[in-house]
Amino acid sequence: MSSYDVIVIGSGPGGYVSAIRCAQLGLKTAIVEGRETLGGTCLNVGCIPSKALLHASHMLHEAEHNFGAMGLKGKSPSVDWKQMLQYKSDTIETNTKGVEFLMKKNKIDWLKGWGSIPATGQVKVGDEVHETKNIIIATGSDVATLPGVEIDEKVVVSSTGALELGKIPKRLAVIGAGVIGLELGSVYLRLGSEVTVIEYLDAITPGMDAEVQKTFQRTLKKQGFKFIMGAAVQSVSANKTKATVSYKLRKNDAEETLETDTVLVATGRKPYTDGLGLDALGVEMSERGQIKTNAHYATNVEGIYAIGDCIDGPMLAHKAEDEGMACAEGLAGQQPHVNYNVIPGVIYTHPEVSNVGATEQALKDQGVDYKVGKFSFMGNGRAKANFAGEGFVKILADKATDRILGAHIIGPMAGDLIHEICVAMEFGAAAEDLARTCHAHPTYSEAVREAALACGDGPIHS
Ligand code: NAI
Repeated sequence: MSSYDVIVIGSGPGGYVSAIRCAQLGLKTAIVEGRETLGGTCLNVGCIPSKALLHASHMLHEAEHNFGAMGLKGKSPSVDWKQMLQYKSDTIETNTKGVEFLMKKNKIDWLKGWGSIPATGQVKVGDEVHETKNIIIATGSDVATLPGVEIDEKVVVSSTGALELGKIPKRLAVIGAGVIGLELGSVYLRLGSEVTVIEYLDAITPGMDAEVQKTFQRTLKKQGFKFIMGAAVQSVSANKTKATVSYKLRKNDAEETLETDTVLVATGRKPYTDGLGLDALGVEMSERGQIKTNAHYATNVEGIYAIGDCIDGPMLAHKAEDEGMACAEGLAGQQPHVNYNVIPGVIYTHPEVSNVGATEQALKDQGVDYKVGKFSFMGNGRAKANFAGEGFVKILADKATDRILGAHIIGPMAGDLIHEICVAMEFGAAAEDLARTCHAHPTYSEAVREAALACGDGPIHS
C-alpha cells in the first residue's frame, strides 16, 4: 500500500491538469484511470478526435469549393474513410501519449483501474487500497440517453460511436442542435451525408446570442444542413442498417417520422460518478446528479474535492482544467480564483462560433444599460482574401463605463479571436482599450478591434 498527499480520480483535462499542478506544488500525487490511455473523454472520444475529423473534412470542403477559384486546378480528393479514421486514431495516440509523458515527468503515479472511495482518506483501485490525505474527483460526464432511444453505437450512435462509423452514411439524422450535433453533423455533411437535425427548441445552440444563432443556422442551411425545429423526438426504432426517428411537432402535436441510415443522439451529457461509493460516504449531490462543492471545490466530506463536468457549470474541458488547477493550488495553501464570467465557449464548425461573458438577452434580463459594437468579416481584408467573409464580431459594453461585458463571434478563427477579449475582460478593460490597441494588418483580429471601435466613435471599414 502506498500513501499520497493527493489522489486524483479521472485523467481527463480536469484530472490530469490538476495532478500536474499538485505535483508542481510539491504534493505527492497519483492519478487513477481505468481506460487504457490517459486523457479521458476529451482526448479519447471527444474534443481531440472530433477536431481531427473536422480538420480533415474541412480540407476536403476547401478543395471542392475554393481551390478552383484560387487557381488550384485538378480533381478533388476522394475520401479514404479508413485512412481518415487512422489519422484520427494517430491524433488520439500522440495526445494521450503526451499526457502519459507529462505524468512521468512530474513523477505522478498512474494507478491503473477504476477507482472507488471505501472511506475518507482511501482510494481503492483493483484490489489495492491507497492512503491519501486528499481526493480530487474528476470523473467527468457521460452521454445522457433519451427515453425511447436505445444507443447501439452502430446505427443509433452517441458522439463516441459517431467517431468510428463503419462507413459514411448516406443519410444522418442528428437529434439535438447543440455543440456535438452541429460539429459532428458538419463532419458528415462535408463527407457527403445528407444531414437532418431535429431540435426541440426553435433556435439552435441553446443559450447563445440570438443574432449569432440566426446567422449560424442560416450559414449551416446554406452548407446543406436540413433542420426540423420545434420537434421533440419520442423514439427511434432501428434494425441493423436503418432507423426511423419519431418526433412530435410542438406547435400542433403532429406526430411525424424520418427514415435514415444513422442516428446521432446529441441531447446532452450527464455527470458521471458511478461506482465511486459516494452514497455510502454521504457526499451531497444536486438533483441533477452533480457533486455539490463549495468555492474551494470541497464536498461536504472532509478531504474529498470535485472538479469539472461532475460538478455544477458548463461541461467544458477548459473550465475543468481551471478548476483542477485552482483546487490543487488551494490544497497547497494558495488563494486561487476561477472567474466564471470569463469562460469562453467555442463551436468548431466552419465558420467557428465563440462567445464569452453576457448575451444581450442576459443583460436585458438584468436591466443593464449596454451598447453594441458590431463588425462584419466582409469588411476584413484577410477574411475576404480567404473566402471567409461570413459572420461578425459583436462586443457588448456597459453604456456608462464602456467596460466590456460580453462578446460573440461567428467567423474565421473565432475560437482563437475570442481570447484577446477574454484577456481584456480579465483586466476589466473598456472597449476603448481594445480599440486603441494596435492590431497587425492584415489579420482577422482587426475585426475584433473594429467591433471595439464600433462601441465608440465607429469602425473604419464599414
Ligand atoms: P447540448 O446541451 O449542447 O445540446 C442538446 C440539444 O438537444 C439542445 O438543443 C436540446 O434542446 C436538444 N434536445 C434535447 N432533447 C431533445 C429531444 N427529445 N428532441 C429533440 N431535441 C432535443 O448537448 P450536446 O451537444 O450533446 O453537448 C453535450 C455537452 O458537451 C455540452 O455541455 C457541450 O458544451 C459539451 N461539448 C462541448 C464542445 C465544445 O466546447 N466545442 C464539443 C462537444 C461537446
